[in-house]
Amino acid sequence: MSHTRIVGTGSYLPARVVTNEELSRRIDTSDEWIFGRTGIRQRHIAADDELTSDLALHASRRALESAGIEASEIDLIVVATTTPDIIFPSTACILQAKLGAGPGAAFDVQAVCSGFVYALATADALMRTGTYRHALVVGAEIYSRILNWNDRTTCVLFGDGAGAVVLGRSAKPGIIGTRLHADGRYRDILSVPGSVRDGRVCGSPFLTMEGNAVFKLAVKVLGEVMEEALTQHGIERSQLDWLIPHQANIRIIQATARRIGMGMEKVVVTVDRHANTSAASIPLALDLAVRDGRIRPGHLVLMQGVGGGFTWGAILARM
Ligand code: ACO
Repeated sequence: MSHTRIVGTGSYLPARVVTNEELSRRIDTSDEWIFGRTGIRQRHIAADDELTSDLALHASRRALESAGIEASEIDLIVVATTTPDIIFPSTACILQAKLGAGPGAAFDVQAVCSGFVYALATADALMRTGTYRHALVVGAEIYSRILNWNDRTTCVLFGDGAGAVVLGRSAKPGIIGTRLHADGRYRDILSVPGSVRDGRVCGSPFLTMEGNAVFKLAVKVLGEVMEEALTQHGIERSQLDWLIPHQANIRIIQATARRIGMGMEKVVVTVDRHANTSAASIPLALDLAVRDGRIRPGHLVLMQGVGGGFTWGAILARM
């Protein structure tokens, strides 16, 4: 069976930075509370005329450039997003047209903050059928549009951004293993419950969250799925070079790193600068650490996502 490998990475953050201090001038919060509870100092916010597909486009171009391939060589596009440009067509189809790629397959994956892990696992499985040569896997989000900016319990936690990887065929495994899970019984602890019906928005179009319940479940399932991925592939914790967790909260990241005995110097952390960019957080962190030289060819990386659904998963990859 042939394998796949990450052959290029890219990312994009909107220009506008909103600090905790700026938020504290608008709502009843403080840098001390936000940083102390979450590790977040600032977030990037998309301009009014920027769409999720625009963020995805910038990140994708950078990933293609680093892979050294043209958009025309991409025959599979999977975009993980919870904040698509429109209800349909998919953001992946819109991205395909903007890139001038195609006519390969293009579709979106909706697994909220686990979206990138789900999308990468899906692209890897499709690639290994031998039908596709290069896949573009993107996590792109504009959460600022589904936040109630008067709700201090949620709006301080998120940011906008996009990250992308190019997957190519490989004789040896780059993507070593993927584990995906969901438990829909927890669907209400993190959701945007509204829908469009008969021309109207029914229910709330804003993100709602039971913060404590999400925190506890996230720490539990992330620990479990990491153990599962390592055991399944007979990999010792000490063999891991890097942990790239979903960037929701530094306390969740520290707790999961502790669980597998990984020192924080081996964990890629961006939550302080990016906040939680949902499906974009892992590929953004990956690209940052590849570009600054921390993650190098041959390194063994464990990526782990968790989010609404409730969904979670892990990917073991040799770079
Ligand atoms: N600024 C100031 N005070 C605040 C703010 C704020 N932004 N938000 C809440 N508070 C207040 C509350 O009103 C409460 O006040 P009270 O005691 O007078 O009632 C107090 O702070 C404590 O609130 P808690 O909700 O108990 O605070 P907690 O320590 O649980 O932290 C947090 C909340 C940061 C949301 C935490 O539960 C958490 O990180 N949960 C994980 C959720 C998460 O990361 N979600 C991201 C999406 S999910 C994902 O990606 C996996």
